[in-house]
Amino acid sequence: MEQHVASRLEAHDVSVGYGEHRVIEGVDFKVLEGELTVILGPNACGKSTLLKTLARVIPHQKGEVYLDGQKMSGLKSKNIAQILAMLPQTPQAPSGVNVFDVVSRGRYPHQSLLSSWSEEDEQIVIDAMKAANVFELADRPIEALSGGQRQRVWIAMTLAQQTPLILLDEPTTYLDITHQIEVLNLTQRLHRSGRTIAVVLHDLNLAFRYATHVVLMKDGAIIAQGQPQKIVTSELIRKVFDLDCMIMQDPYTGTPMVVPAAEQEDHV
Ligand SMILES: Nc1ncnc2c1ncn2[C@@H]1O[C@H](COP(=O)(O)OP(=O)(O)OP(=O)(O)O)[C@@H](O)[C@H]1O
Ligand SMILES: [Mg+2]
Repeated sequence: MEQHVASRLEAHDVSVGYGEHRVIEGVDFKVLEGELTVILGPNACGKSTLLKTLARVIPHQKGEVYLDGQKMSGLKSKNIAQILAMLPQTPQAPSGVNVFDVVSRGRYPHQSLLSSWSEEDEQIVIDAMKAANVFELADRPIEALSGGQRQRVWIAMTLAQQTPLILLDEPTTYLDITHQIEVLNLTQRLHRSGRTIAVVLHDLNLAFRYATHVVLMKDGAIIAQGQPQKIVTSELIRKVFDLDCMIMQDPYTGTPMVVPAAEQEDHV
């Protein structure tokens, strides 16, 4: 297998589905090294399925996924988890544990039978909680948190894993606008500090602000990808989302801003 310098995680001609239902058919996809990639697309188009396939959370039926040039299928889960952290769209909250314990789980891949919990682990967990703005919640039971607070705890857990590759599936769900921006700023800081990140979002305008690379999906296929300023047009948005819109320039950043037409044709 040839080694690609530009990406550490790649899907080659991958098909994935659930039972008889094929969701993704023969897709090629690269998480480009050093980019902050945002994946966009309508509900049920296969974004989470793609991310879960890339993180080997679900098996693929055809093709191959490579991590650092090696077939994912042959790697140990722990080795994958040292390189790649994935925040799922709907993480399951364990019952009876507090926030500190949940975030500590991010350190599991770095521990062995011989190395017990260290001061360094403790500090990494504290730093992750502070970065995700949940340090004050450390002693609270996870089930006693609001949806937005819980979401930030998952982000802290993902950060505590300290991986060079991070996949985030709708990390801003449940968050108010201020916390959405906070999480996206944090994502941007991580990206600027050298992490490679792929994130699924639904807010197009925020996506175009933060992404260095966007991927637009529809019906399990990749329709377009590239730098937002270079690829986003009203035709593309109509094609992917069945939405009539105008593309303006974000007054702060100059990035594309989607303004939906006041009257939409009903596409249902
Ligand atoms: N565990 C599952 N079992 C059966 N079908 C599934 C399962 N998970 C997803 N699907 C189906 O696969 C398709 C793609 O789902 P997926 O979750 O990848 O979409 P998505 O693009 O992430 O959507 P959303 O924006 O709503 O999160 C949908 O038709 C969905 O119903
Ligand atoms: Mg999803």
